[in-house]
Amino acid sequence: MPSPDPEAPVRVAIPKELVVPTVLITGANRGIGLELARQYAAADWRVIATARDVAAATDLAAIAAKHPKLSIDALDVTDNTAIAALANKHREPLDVLLNNAGWLGDPKQQGISELDIAVFENVMHTNAYAPLALARAFLPQIEASVQKKIIVITSGLSSLTNTRNFGSLYFYRMSKAAANMAMRALQADLRTKGIQVGILAPGVVDTRLLRQSGWTGEALDTVSSATGVIRNIANLKGQDPQIQLYSGESVPW
Ligand SMILES: NC(=O)c1ccc[n+]([C@@H]2O[C@H](COP(=O)([O-])OP(=O)(O)OC[C@H]3O[C@@H](n4cnc5c(N)ncnc54)[C@H](OP(=O)(O)O)[C@@H]3O)[C@@H](O)[C@H]2O)c1
Repeated sequence: MPSPDPEAPVRVAIPKELVVPTVLITGANRGIGLELARQYAAADWRVIATARDVAAATDLAAIAAKHPKLSIDALDVTDNTAIAALANKHREPLDVLLNNAGWLGDPKQQGISELDIAVFENVMHTNAYAPLALARAFLPQIEASVQKKIIVITSGLSSLTNTRNFGSLYFYRMSKAAANMAMRALQADLRTKGIQVGILAPGVVDTRLLRQSGWTGEALDTVSSATGVIRNIANLKGQDPQIQLYSGESVPW
């Protein structure tokens, strides 16, 4: 028998339960994304938190100061070159890709009398195309992970069923319905790789996006919403993705 090579790297298999999981969260500088980052960091996950403007992401930096496993990267999700560079930088296994970044667009510019095409393109790019582009870029890292999950934060406003009494916000609603379909098709594509896709709705949450929508009714706080979303991500186990509210209920398509 040949004697072992003393220069050969020693490979030790780390048991699954001892691997520190990693989550990548887009749009983590404010709103629901910031709270998702805070809760995953507090649970001792490795968090790759992204923000368009890192210098302005002071709330996120304050979390990073307390939790060294949280790192912050610049990312505009509509920039494919930046997505590729980020995937090249973070080659470690990625357990959860959490596509949280979302753009409402000015409600007036997507009213029936305006239908601004530039706003349409930006809303569709951010909410529907970018989650797919991120999934493509990080696929090897997701496949190499233990949990193998791709999540999109959708909206109850994506539901075709719940349209009876509420018009307006055309682009935003179309983009979230498109994101749902992208994720259903992605699930079918990636099932044999053991990848689980989730389509999660955070509820009506008190954030800048909600205020821009003109909503004046009751709203949840980001803590309750993010807690529910994280619980739902943990419970995803092999089922076809449905639109699932933070509370666990399904929203009809
Ligand atoms: N709040 C609700 O009631 C509600 C309901 C249903 C679904 N949602 C969804 O929940 C998610 C989080 O929204 P939120 O309510 O927390 O709103 P928010 O406070 O307005 O946060 C939106 C986040 O998305 C980021 N973002 C927007 N466009 C981006 C781009 N091109 N590249 C990278 N980041 C971008 C924003 O970054 P900047 O700070 O740089 O703008 C911000 O971090 C969104 O997908 C939204 O559609 C929210």
